[in-house]
Amino acid sequence: MTDTTDRLGTREDASSAKTFNEAYGISDGAVAGLRHASLDGVQLSLNGVDHTARPTWKLNETVEFYRDILGLPLVHAISARGWGPPGHHDFLHFFFDAGKGATIAFFYYIGSQRPEKYVPEEHHFYFATHTAWAVETEAQLIQWKETLEARGIKVSPYTKHEILESIYFTDPNGYPVEVTLRLRETEVIDEVDARLTIQAAMETEAEARAENRLLADIDTIWRRKAKLVDAYKGAPA
Ligand SMILES: [Fe+2]
Repeated sequence: MTDTTDRLGTREDASSAKTFNEAYGISDGAVAGLRHASLDGVQLSLNGVDHTARPTWKLNETVEFYRDILGLPLVHAISARGWGPPGHHDFLHFFFDAGKGATIAFFYYIGSQRPEKYVPEEHHFYFATHTAWAVETEAQLIQWKETLEARGIKVSPYTKHEILESIYFTDPNGYPVEVTLRLRETEVIDEVDARLTIQAAMETEAEARAENRLLADIDTIWRRKAKLVDAYKGAPA
């Protein structure tokens, strides 16, 4: 009998399913049937970022930008024939050092052209997909902004988001890049606040969906959150 058990370190090829979603997709309805972490007592954890990856159709500009202008060392490159489903392009997968073992990675699909839907858009939906790379000190954040500007890159003003202060710029692919300084660590009050905010949002979103409408505004969520805050203050968890 063939051993079909999946074991660590035994295969290097990708799934041959027609699509990634066919192999591993989860439908909305299926989420309800999945087991919650609280039921099996296993606490999974992560240890930071290994790499982020995006496609590029500008090999030269991407390498020049990250390696030669930003000065992030090119530390690894995989070159491979197409793998997995039929029609997969031969590709390069290359990695720039982003500190603490993390890398910024790209795929360059040989012989492909960028489809229209992958052209960057001037829209916050598009810019929502980004990675924020950390610096440790205020001096480093200032150094990033001033150095990049001196090298000719347009950089956003310093922008504060509660516990982060960030700068933003764009790479030659049109991908937004964020460099951020953590202003403080999160505390228990932040976790409580997050829990109540998201609970309020989930409840009101579910109600809206049941009535086949969209949530109208943030006020709807805040009003519900206010009730949850009152209940919390009455009986802290
Ligand atoms: Fe961000």
